[in-house]
Amino acid sequence: MQLKLISGFCDRLIVSAILLCFALFVGIGIALAQERSIEPMFLEIDKKYQIPEGWSILPFELEDPYKRVKNGPILANVTHKANIEWISRWIANPKEVISNAKMPDLGLEFDEIKAVIVYLGSIADDGLSKVKWDEYLLKREDDMTDEEYDKMDQIFQMGKGVWGRARCTICHPVKGLGGNVGVGPDLGSIVTKVNRDWLYDWLANTKMHFPDTLMAQFRFSDEEIRGLVEYVMRDTQFMPEEEYEDEGEDGQDGGTPKTIEETKFLTNAEYSTIKGDSALISKGKEVVERSRCFVCHDIKGLSELMPVVERNREKLEGFEKVLYEIRCLTCHTIQKKGGTYAPNLTEAGTKMKMDWENEFLKAPDIIRPLSQQMPKFNLTGEDATFATEFMEKYLTNKKLPSGIFDNEKPSQEVVEAGKNLFYDKGCNACHAEGTKGGGVVGPNLGTVGDRLQPAYMFHHLKNPILVNPRAIEPNYALSDQEIKSLVGFLIDHVKGKEGN
Ligand code: HEC
Ligand code: HEC
Ligand code: HEC
Ligand code: HEC
Repeated sequence: MQLKLISGFCDRLIVSAILLCFALFVGIGIALAQERSIEPMFLEIDKKYQIPEGWSILPFELEDPYKRVKNGPILANVTHKANIEWISRWIANPKEVISNAKMPDLGLEFDEIKAVIVYLGSIADDGLSKVKWDEYLLKREDDMTDEEYDKMDQIFQMGKGVWGRARCTICHPVKGLGGNVGVGPDLGSIVTKVNRDWLYDWLANTKMHFPDTLMAQFRFSDEEIRGLVEYVMRDTQFMPEEEYEDEGEDGQDGGTPKTIEETKFLTNAEYSTIKGDSALISKGKEVVERSRCFVCHDIKGLSELMPVVERNREKLEGFEKVLYEIRCLTCHTIQKKGGTYAPNLTEAGTKMKMDWENEFLKAPDIIRPLSQQMPKFNLTGEDATFATEFMEKYLTNKKLPSGIFDNEKPSQEVVEAGKNLFYDKGCNACHAEGTKGGGVVGPNLGTVGDRLQPAYMFHHLKNPILVNPRAIEPNYALSDQEIKSLVGFLIDHVKGKEGN
């Protein structure tokens, strides 16, 4: 009605008024659109239609860790976390500090960088919680007595083991090696950035430092963290490589002398003299606003410029809490949310046997021998039960065939026929069976009978590419009878059997 009136009015006006009218029209349109609220029922129906047939509607909305609003970390306490010299070099040129840096070079002048750091210092909390270290652990190795060195070395070696089991390197490259998940910063010179107190606290309370982090909150003990800290702060792989000056290398006298212009940086000593300077603080704040740092970083006091909706995670419980803390979706996908580094868990409840899975979550074993391996998060029995119960209930595919070897055991003939097929078709080119040897491209099938449900194996062998579009396993177009024999052969692969 109202719109009709307006457009009738427009007919009788000159061009400029038509334009004005159009602006009004659009204005009303926007106002209407903003006011329109959607019936919850429609949202519910919409959700149902987005879910492929066969998947369940989950009891809570999954949080995709890759969809966090701010790409970069929270800056509130960065002056407690990182060395001043490091921050200064970083802002001047991120890629020169960490090769896989995502932050762009913002082209700031040295004076501006100084002011920014003083500003960042002004918004930091009073201090980090201090960790108590034995006196000798704060010494350099050269200054330790033999006895002290041995004690330190024991902690160091223990930490090295924790580092390996936690598989930190699947997320973090170290000097360019590793980091297959593609999310963590290179730790190749981390000792020049962080201090041991911060590192301890980060590993103990990861989510308190940075609630949206893609890193898992490991369930480490105090002792394990101390080991990790000793290892990370002392092992040479975490220290920058010495840069040697090559002098007239190949005898061809001279060559062009390399004049690397040394980046100017703020030293700790200078920082302590300008810290708290109010003129610098306001200049720094102005630079931060102008450079739009808040587009990528949550910055205390500036967040009103681009607010982040705080999620209330205090009330999380059960599997939702485990998902959040361990950040399973940094590596796995569930119903199209999350990462693709690890197997898709959308149908995990119909794929895996829950007893096996429960054990696996508490102490992950290696299934896929190539680079994909699940870190040891030290999940508690309770965490593992939350996960398996959830998967069994919600992460299922109701369209899977049922009744395959549910109650019957495969006969000896079926197992024999399956075995022949397995070798005739060359499955062993990609799959080993326990210690019997075979390929390493696919998972080891040695105890696959303990791990996978028969109906899922049937579904998988019917056409591996339908199950996983990126599968490299060929579609053999096997008959149902052949598949049944293969499944019969495979479910016989359980722990304790010869060779498995
Ligand atoms: C386009 C996004 C973007 C902008 C704009 C941006 N940063 Fe960053 N920043 C990042 C990302 C991403 C990281 C994490 C490290 C990396 O690059 O991979 C980061 C890391 C940092 C760090 C290290 C933090 C830590 O906890 O290790 C500091 C300090 C920092 N940024 C300061 C700034 C300042 C100051 C500005 C504005 C002058 C700014 N950033 C602008 C994306 C950005
Ligand atoms: C699931 C992937 C993942 C795993 C596993 C992981 N991290 Fe991280 N880590 C990250 C990410 C991502 C960040 C950066 C914060 C962010 O952007 O969420 C980070 C940050 C860090 C930082 C700070 C680095 C910096 O420059 O600011 C340290 C130190 C660290 N992790 C150590 C470890 C250690 C030690 C382990 C093994 C016990 C580990 N991480 C395991 C993903 C991971
Ligand atoms: C840092 C990456 C990462 C994180 C985080 C992670 N996983 Fe995994 N997960 C893997 C990898 C890699 C594998 C494959 C292991 C193998 O084949 O040896 C795996 C395997 C699994 C499997 C077996 C899947 C199959 O099809 O074989 C389950 C179940 C599983 N993870 C559940 C979880 C749960 C639950 C969480 C969170 C509590 C979690 N994962 C967190 C990397 C991760
Ligand atoms: C070209 C290599 C290749 C061949 C040949 C091959 N597979 Fe696979 N297979 C794979 C890979 C890779 C996977 C893992 C998919 C994944 O990680 O989810 C797989 C997965 C499986 C699985 C499911 C295991 C799991 O945990 O997801 C079964 C069962 C299986 N294969 C059986 C067979 C049988 C039986 C044959 C022969 C008829 C065969 N495969 C031939 C590569 C192969």
